[in-house]
Amino acid sequence: MSISVWNWREWLVGEIPGVVLEIGAGSGANLSRYRRAARVFAIEPDAASAQQAQVAAAHCALPVSVKIAVAEHLPIASASIDHVVSSLVFCSVQDQRQALREIRRVLRPNGVLSMIEHVRPQTSALAIAADAVTPYWQRIAHNCHLNRPTVEVLRGEKWDVRVLQRRGVFVHLEARPI
Ligand SMILES: C[S@@+](CC[C@H](N)C(=O)[O-])C[C@H]1O[C@@H](n2cnc3c(N)ncnc32)[C@H](O)[C@@H]1O
Repeated sequence: MSISVWNWREWLVGEIPGVVLEIGAGSGANLSRYRRAARVFAIEPDAASAQQAQVAAAHCALPVSVKIAVAEHLPIASASIDHVVSSLVFCSVQDQRQALREIRRVLRPNGVLSMIEHVRPQTSALAIAADAVTPYWQRIAHNCHLNRPTVEVLRGEKWDVRVLQRRGVFVHLEARPI
């Protein structure tokens, strides 16, 4: 099986074991797809989306709880999480570096951050276009940036990044704090 527009959520979270924190869970589209997790904590800043995620959580086979919070200030004990998941969130967070510091804090030793994110295009013409459009796009798309160099930011913040797959501007990666 390879990752596609139809199965990417299963691909991202289906096999993740242990205690999981999902940041920016939105309406909870990933929550029913965790098959191997022991339990899932989810955070989401938007109250209406968090309420939808709580409904999704109530239908999950494994324990899932949802809190209203931002990735930059996680209401989670230090060194308590095996795996942090982010899908299409790092384009929108206010402060990527602060979010990464918080994720580092809550991860246990050997913990992993898994992401599927869209990032700044690698082709220079597309990257220039993304830079030009982003100031307008972020205003209408809830702070979504089309030009975030998320992989480079991770490496700059001393994360060991393994890019598992790139499809256009989409990147699936695993990262471990160094
Ligand atoms: C494109 S949606 C993705 C939602 C969900 N992760 C998914 O895959 O369907 C982006 C989400 O990031 C959330 N978000 C924005 N800023 C955030 C922040 N600072 N911390 C955590 N989540 C944030 C938004 O509220 C929104 O739910």
